[in-house]
Amino acid sequence: MPAPRILVTGGAGFIGSHTCVALIAAGYQPVVLDTLVNSDARSLKRVACITGVEPVLVRADVRDGAALDRTFAAHGVQAVVHLAGLKAVGESVADPLGYYDVNLAGSLVLARAMDRAGVRTLVFSSSATVYGDSQPSPIAEAAPHGPVNPYGRTKSMVESMLADLSHADARWGIACLRYFNPVGAHESGLLGELPNGPPNNLMPYISQVAAGERECLVVHGADYDTADGTGVRDYVHVMDVAEGHVAALHRAARRPGILMANLGTGHGASVLEVVSAFERASGRRIALRIGPRRPGDAPAYWADVRSAWRTLGWRARRDLDQMCADSWRWQCASPHGFDDPVPTLVPGA
Ligand code: NAD
Ligand code: WQD
Repeated sequence: MPAPRILVTGGAGFIGSHTCVALIAAGYQPVVLDTLVNSDARSLKRVACITGVEPVLVRADVRDGAALDRTFAAHGVQAVVHLAGLKAVGESVADPLGYYDVNLAGSLVLARAMDRAGVRTLVFSSSATVYGDSQPSPIAEAAPHGPVNPYGRTKSMVESMLADLSHADARWGIACLRYFNPVGAHESGLLGELPNGPPNNLMPYISQVAAGERECLVVHGADYDTADGTGVRDYVHVMDVAEGHVAALHRAARRPGILMANLGTGHGASVLEVVSAFERASGRRIALRIGPRRPGDAPAYWADVRSAWRTLGWRARRDLDQMCADSWRWQCASPHGFDDPVPTLVPGA
């Protein structure tokens, strides 16, 4: 019995490559559609080293309906995990039309192509940014949307579009996953985050300071109303997020309708707590200085994760120490251009 094929748009990226590992472990065959605008095809070779199965790569744009039609026709896809998108908040403020084009129009073109192909099981990569910066934590899925930047608005609009689709056509099974702060790397050290240029996000920046690639971490504000004054977030291991997609796929394939689920740990950690955890994991001291608050930053937020457990049977299993240990292993494993010979792992290792 051949493995059921799942189209993973954006599957060569950070979340996508880890999701391919989890899908293969669950008995699926990923078919990746990706422009590689923010990733490297060799990440799929790394997926093969870890699992023994190399995802098929279709190098195409999610906004290209004809390419999607050809992909559905050629690969017998049974469901879609939709991760392709642009994700930098600051960039979305500077280039809103670029973000609406890829994230919103791309999702519309994909949904239409799915409908033409008769494929109506979809897991969509949403974000906690749909909640905005004024919701009390822990934040539950029923909290009102209040995105405060174009990026968050694109995610919120796609969710609304998919909800309308689901209400109009009961054949669709849809799961919208609102990731909080995915961090870490696969435990093998073969996959991880590949930030282009200076990282905007905390964990990759700390990792590069620990490795001596960056001189010092600037803490964006230490005068927030939090335990130590620094920003608090719900960091969640990228492999937990990946496994959350498998759980959501199982649910969406069996139950028509639409569900939203927070993917987080349900706990907040401050910047200084992350720094301490990374110092324990790496054995390195992280040089830092306190800088001004970063515009647009919320003081503190973390997820209410009860619904993800109730509806998906999913909860995060990896703690902050493992997130840091796996990030550090990835940081140390190789020059991040994937320019080293790809090591061979026993499949399924
Ligand atoms: P990423 O940039 O590593 O992965 C996105 C992938 O999509 C890349 O491989 C990129 O080449 C591809 N892509 C971009 N535009 C495309 C297009 N038009 N057609 C086809 N492929 C395209 O980012 P990621 O962190 O893996 O994020 C994946 C998804 O998860 C995104 O939709 C993002 O908005 C969402 N998300 C990420 C985070 C996070 O903190 N990383 C948090 C919440 C939600
Ligand atoms: C975390 C904390 C910073 C860097 C972002 C996106 C969000 C989502 C996840 C896509 C904050 C502090 C950071 C640094 C610092 N992505 N920090 N020094 O902003 O919570 O969320 O990634 O969906 O949309 O907004 O993550 O890692 O940038 O910041 O002090 O050099 O670390 O102030 O408190 P954020 P982050």
